Amino acid sequence: MKILILNGPNLNLLGVREKSVYGNRSFEDYFEELKEAFPALELSYFQSNTEGTLIDKLHEVGFSYKGIVFNAGAYTHTSVALSDAIRAIDTPVVEVHISNVYAREAWRQKSMIAPYCKGSISGFGLESYRLALQYFERLKPKQIGFNV
Ligand code: DQA
Repeated sequence: MKILILNGPNLNLLGVREKSVYGNRSFEDYFEELKEAFPALELSYFQSNTEGTLIDKLHEVGFSYKGIVFNAGAYTHTSVALSDAIRAIDTPVVEVHISNVYAREAWRQKSMIAPYCKGSISGFGLESYRLALQYFERLKPKQIGFNV
């Protein structure tokens, strides 16, 4: 079961950037742990700081992969184009955030993508990604049809 973890802008700096908010671990390091924890999932990871590249990736995998775990970073709060891309594809997307966006600035409390995602997970640190993967792992094969 192919699952993509997709990270948006500035998330390449995890472990370096604002450690009090985002922790001191790189995503590459955490990704190794996720691969061990979910041997039944074929996990891949992609990060870009560029909106168009994220859209291209959603289009590339969004008609064949079984799931996408997406942290759109700041584009979450601004991007009509990313929300349209999520609407356009068949693969279910779970929105994740490391920080609790609802406990932060008012402008972070609006997600342009949430209405088109299967669900949203926010505030559990890097464990937000693990929780999203548990959703896909526990789905029975027949439940993971597109547009569920
Ligand atoms: C974030 C929250 C966003 O508001 C912020 O712009 C990020 C990271 C998170 O994972 O907590 O870059 O998506």
